[in-house]
Amino acid sequence: MRMRRKHNLEARVAACGSVLVARGKPCRNLKEAAENYRALLDYPVLFSRSAPVELEVGCGNGAFIAELAKRERGCDFLAVEVCTNVILTAMERVVAEGIGNVRFLNIAAEILPCYIPEGSIRRIYLNFSTPLPEAGRERQRLTSDRFLDIYKKLLVPGGEIVQKTDSIDFFNYSLRKYRENGFVVEALSRDLRRSEYAAENIVTEYEANFSAKGMPICYVRVKMEDR
Ligand SMILES: C[S@@+](CC[C@H](N)C(=O)[O-])C[C@H]1O[C@@H](n2cnc3c(N)ncnc32)[C@H](O)[C@@H]1O
Repeated sequence: MRMRRKHNLEARVAACGSVLVARGKPCRNLKEAAENYRALLDYPVLFSRSAPVELEVGCGNGAFIAELAKRERGCDFLAVEVCTNVILTAMERVVAEGIGNVRFLNIAAEILPCYIPEGSIRRIYLNFSTPLPEAGRERQRLTSDRFLDIYKKLLVPGGEIVQKTDSIDFFNYSLRKYRENGFVVEALSRDLRRSEYAAENIVTEYEANFSAKGMPICYVRVKMEDR
């Protein structure tokens, strides 16, 4: 179901200017932008310090990144979300709570290399990315070869990806793609709530819905092998 456009959207986005560092499509199309456009973020300027940086792709309403940022004060966080209507909730949450170590990019993840310096991200979070089971949409899956290529460039050596999903098929597909792309599994559970990783888990908006229906949550943390 399509979400109704939020009331006063543009004015409210403008009011979140202090946490929004990139927005929209800088070129005619994503391919041209990914290849030619660079406006790389300067973390010390952005966060007024030098600290490890982690990234959530498809942050939705921001409940996860806000809680993580509060728990991990010594780390800085970037959160990417393509839908302005959705990221607005995340940005307003972070501004209202005065969380200083999160910044947002309202862009498609396809153009992350336009903004994020190579080898600068310690960990990438993929929370309940849309599984897109249709064969013709494989390229759009956030764990396809295309995206893993991007993540490999953005991650520091030995950097990690942490994924959660309710979809067994998408989970199995992702595990295969991680293996094919040189990532090794460090932690894995096909029932997160009943696993040793449950205690530290931060429940996302989608996860709460799936868990309320009794659905098991798949969890994996993979590490990039040395290049
Ligand atoms: C199923 S929702 C999950 C939201 C949140 N992570 C959670 O667990 O509650 C997936 C989100 O990813 C965003 N998304 C999907 N493809 C994207 C892309 N290529 N770039 C950026 N965001 C994307 C969607 O707009 C949507 O908000």
